[in-house]
Amino acid sequence: MISLFRAFPNGVSVCSQILTRRSVHHNAGVKFQGSVVTRRREKFETNNHWTSENVNELIREDSELPGHIRAKSNQFIKEIGDTKTVLLLGSTGTMGPYFLETLCNMEQISNVVCLMRGNNDVVYRNLKSWQHVKTENLHKVTCVNGNVAFPHLGMSDRLWDSLTNSVDAVINCAARIHHTEIYTNNDSNRDARAVNVGGIKNILEFACENRLKHVFHAGTFLAASKVREGVIAEGWPEDVGDFDFATSLAYPITKFVSEMLFKEAAKRGIPCKVFRFPIVTGNSKTGKFCLNNNHVMLRYISILTNGAIPSSPMPMPMLPIDQCAEISMKIFFHDKGGQSDLYNITHPNVDIDQEFVQVAKRFGKRVSLVDDEEFAKSLERDLERGTNFGAFKNYYVKDQFWKKYRCHLPLFKFWRPGNDGYFVSKKLETLMPDIYDPEERTMDYVYKDLKFAKNNGWF
Ligand SMILES: NC(=O)c1ccc[n+]([C@@H]2O[C@H](COP(=O)([O-])OP(=O)(O)OC[C@H]3O[C@@H](n4cnc5c(N)ncnc54)[C@H](OP(=O)(O)O)[C@@H]3O)[C@@H](O)[C@H]2O)c1
Repeated sequence: MISLFRAFPNGVSVCSQILTRRSVHHNAGVKFQGSVVTRRREKFETNNHWTSENVNELIREDSELPGHIRAKSNQFIKEIGDTKTVLLLGSTGTMGPYFLETLCNMEQISNVVCLMRGNNDVVYRNLKSWQHVKTENLHKVTCVNGNVAFPHLGMSDRLWDSLTNSVDAVINCAARIHHTEIYTNNDSNRDARAVNVGGIKNILEFACENRLKHVFHAGTFLAASKVREGVIAEGWPEDVGDFDFATSLAYPITKFVSEMLFKEAAKRGIPCKVFRFPIVTGNSKTGKFCLNNNHVMLRYISILTNGAIPSSPMPMPMLPIDQCAEISMKIFFHDKGGQSDLYNITHPNVDIDQEFVQVAKRFGKRVSLVDDEEFAKSLERDLERGTNFGAFKNYYVKDQFWKKYRCHLPLFKFWRPGNDGYFVSKKLETLMPDIYDPEERTMDYVYKDLKFAKNNGWF
């Protein structure tokens, strides 16, 4: 199979998430963000005609898994411990490189096939800059062209045939993450619905064609739809209506719909594990992260600069990127039961946003709690200074966006200040008590990342 594809040259060495395509712009710091953010603002303002009822209807339509996507009676599934060949989707993104690194270092894995839209230079650059993958393991990686939003994942027939017969497991980190796009049926093959919902159907079709495969899916807490006894429910979503009127923003909806699709796929015999990740922070040891497209860190830099943070309490569930990868991969590969399931992966003790005031003090800055209108004015100053986080002003001011999100999204709606147990995962407590005992608070992660940002001259 390897000869079909362009393999990496030998002798390259490996990475952290930072040297992705996005890092090319690091030197431009915060200012670079402007063009990206401004484009986003235009996009969400032009979709206002779409009603909540339309959104609810589309959620139902999209949550239907096509009938042919199911395990067949003549198929059997290999033990996950016997997995040798993995298809990795999203290897050029923020999280993907961490999964690539882990896979390369696993003895049992002999092939990691990275499906990507562009050319393989990005992964090649990552591999060149990584420090942790042994040189002798680099031959495991091959790159193929494709696109999850297209039928057969955009592969040629020959490639589809070859990979559906040889891959044992799929790891999906491919997604369109766009925090202001509206969930509509506009027949695009590039929007969040096409990639995060259509893409999941294509991935599940791949998983049950020829050889039956295990599937790993990177999910998000924003898709959480139920709370039980004060804790976020950690299982498949119960009802397709659980997200009705929660939001019209595409990203959380597509991730909820994908949970519904995985639930159905699991019922039909495709072994799937979904991992809900929190806000992913930089490396746990170095704080290294990529600023570009990182809404949370851009926001904290803006808050630090303007000295104003919204006073409405908000939980900030977080975990460093390497810990997200390590915990989820351990569960995926070492769970002997091989059952399909959904896991909440985050720090059990989540700080609230306003505790950032203490982080600011460690940088010698004073940050005050202000109401939403005052916060919006501070974003205006950002815009004037050209630091561009201000382009999100409308997002924080207009009722239909952030304000609605904060009040209606199940994750936030059921949270109460002081509810420390809200994010605790019973599954992680049981499966890996050692790892699931972090000494640091979530705001310590933010401090570490900001130190890294400061050292890089980003503020
Ligand atoms: N980062 C976080 O804070 C966070 C938090 C919670 C959950 N998650 C979840 O973790 C997953 C990965 O997130 P991330 O932060 O790594 O995202 P990211 O940095 O935006 O990367 C997305 C990846 O998906 C690829 N991709 C996008 N559209 C594609 C398509 N049509 N076909 C094939 N590949 C496509 C991108 O490739 P290109 O290089 O071609 O664009 C890129 O490699 C997502 O499912 C996300 O929901 C992330």
